[in-house]
Amino acid sequence: MTVKLGFNVDHIATIREARKICEPDPIAAAVLAELAGAEGITMHLREDKQHIQDRDVQLLRRTVTTKMNLEICPAQEMVQVAINNQPDTVTLVSEIHTELSTEDGLNVAAKVGDLAKPVMTLKNNDIAVGVFIDAETEQVKAAKKIGADFVEFNTGKYATSCALGSNEEVEREISALEDMTVLARKYGLKVKAGRGLNYRNVAPIATIEGIDELVIGHSIVSKSVMVGIDRAVRDMLEIIRR
Ligand code: PXP
Repeated sequence: MTVKLGFNVDHIATIREARKICEPDPIAAAVLAELAGAEGITMHLREDKQHIQDRDVQLLRRTVTTKMNLEICPAQEMVQVAINNQPDTVTLVSEIHTELSTEDGLNVAAKVGDLAKPVMTLKNNDIAVGVFIDAETEQVKAAKKIGADFVEFNTGKYATSCALGSNEEVEREISALEDMTVLARKYGLKVKAGRGLNYRNVAPIATIEGIDELVIGHSIVSKSVMVGIDRAVRDMLEIIRR
């Protein structure tokens, strides 16, 4: 199975919001990324609208020709925004208002009762639903319990371990991702992974059997500042497809 690349356009919007003007535009970035071969476009509409705005979601829905994945927290108003915009998929994430970007996985195991309803509401509106979780048995079981269609494993800890050069920790994280991918697939859940992946650390994750898609933003946007989005996306695709 070839792993797909989902390009996260939040970081383009972050640059725009630094000036509160109209450039750079995440819609243009999404078009260029798709032309370069990205198989999905992800955006996170935070409740505090730190980067992506309502207008972005509306325009991306009309522009994205691959798969549009909207990340939201599981609040009722955000679920309604998703229904109004009809993305192909929604990923439910945790949101802490002081963070710069999503850091922790959603603790689905602790919120089974609260999450079953938003998941069902989205699914009843023809939107496939996933949860961004840490690669832990109880989280995968809970994802299945609430009726999710897919999980996205948080690779943040793996990325940090790579940056620190902590080989033992890196091996432990890869092993957890492998085991939890097997478990999720056994439960019939599709598997994505993302957070902190870059050109240097992505290869071992891309080779895990059973992962359908990698969601990558910051490293591609960082490289694109130097070489353009087309080249940055193609370079990432070359690594993950190798
Ligand atoms: N997946 C989720 C749920 C995220 O919130 C983010 C953060 O933008 C990503 C993937 C992509 O992470 P990064 O920007 O570090 O590649």
